[in-house]
Amino acid sequence: MDSRSVGPHPPIAGAMGPPLSPEGRGSAAPLDWLADFPAIPEGWAYLDSAATAQKPQVVIDAIARGYAETYATVHRGVYQRSAEMTVAFEASRRRVARFIGAAAPEEIVFVRGATEGINLVAQSWGRDNLGPGDRVLLSTLEHHSNIVPWQLAGAGIDVVPLTADHRIDLDAMERMIGPQHKLVALGHVSNVLGSVLDARRAADIAHAAGAKLLLDGCQAVPRMPVDVGALDCDFYVFSGHKLYGPTGIGVLWARRDILDVMPPWQGGGAMIDKVTFEKTTFAPPPARFEAGTPHVIGVIGLHAAIDYVDKIGLDAIAAHEAALVREAREALSSLNSVRLFGPEDSAGIVSFAIEGVHPHDIGTILDESRVAIRAGHHCAQPLMEYLGVDATARASFGVYNGRQDIEALRRGIERVTRIFG
Ligand code: ALA
Repeated sequence: MDSRSVGPHPPIAGAMGPPLSPEGRGSAAPLDWLADFPAIPEGWAYLDSAATAQKPQVVIDAIARGYAETYATVHRGVYQRSAEMTVAFEASRRRVARFIGAAAPEEIVFVRGATEGINLVAQSWGRDNLGPGDRVLLSTLEHHSNIVPWQLAGAGIDVVPLTADHRIDLDAMERMIGPQHKLVALGHVSNVLGSVLDARRAADIAHAAGAKLLLDGCQAVPRMPVDVGALDCDFYVFSGHKLYGPTGIGVLWARRDILDVMPPWQGGGAMIDKVTFEKTTFAPPPARFEAGTPHVIGVIGLHAAIDYVDKIGLDAIAAHEAALVREAREALSSLNSVRLFGPEDSAGIVSFAIEGVHPHDIGTILDESRVAIRAGHHCAQPLMEYLGVDATARASFGVYNGRQDIEALRRGIERVTRIFG
């Protein structure tokens, strides 16, 4: 595709691939979306989308055009180019708001990624709302980025256990929560297990106890429709690079009334109203939380990524990944030595172990068969401890995966078991 033919807000190219046929829904048959991804060569099974998703050509083109043709700073220039880039930048904020059902674009804060979003909440909201004796409620399956920021903020932490099929146990949460819990912070979808949280119930339980609910939506936003209004959460974070967008850009959404009274967490340009050496007053949100020159082209690329997934449809993506999970679990459970983690209906992510084989060896041997998975603790060491392992092997899916990738994984695992006898 001619990269000069698309703008910061390119129309979705014809290379999108056909809509799913009725038979395509719920089937893991290969789909033409793979053709949208130039960095996936023929015969390479990329099964590490939970770490980072590959980029469709429309996103690459939007980024290239942003730098090659329309580049300028935002919110600072009086010249035409900067004004146009500012319009494009703010259009992306409106697009994000619409994508996740925010009430207003002012509720969207651009951050580097979900990790920075949680740190922002911990350092800003936490400063005003987590005093001595106050606690936050997390779960056993949280990513380190939803554990460590709360420790750095000095909060006491309580941990909701998991059910036998590796979901966050909301019955247990209901029993545990008390007035000392000012915040509940949970993964919407586990990056290791793929377990999907009943987020609306979690919100109801949190609110009944007077706590706020933060959801780490990193693994949910690329895999299912998300509407923060319907979920009734208070904070939601996600990263652009797992949503087929650029690295270095992510989103913190918070309800307007909450953001309005949150103190700034980083000082610098753009977040101020008036600065003197004696005193500074601050801009309203979202600018109050966006100190420094933002990742302009990251924001432009994120817009293109959202257009891309929305055009396919998150319902179709969810159905596609559900079918891949089903096929992967069937294929792996037919091999005796494989232990599967997570619930049967996990969202796009399957973690597993092979008796007597370290997950790093699994990953290395699979790579020889051109199958890319992640092996390790997945930034979830407390969960590894709970599962009784040091690490797992993890296959995770995206729109470009199909039955051929599951077959390559199955053959690769058979080879691993042959090598290790
Ligand atoms: N959180 C990312 C993963 O699970 C990095 O791989």
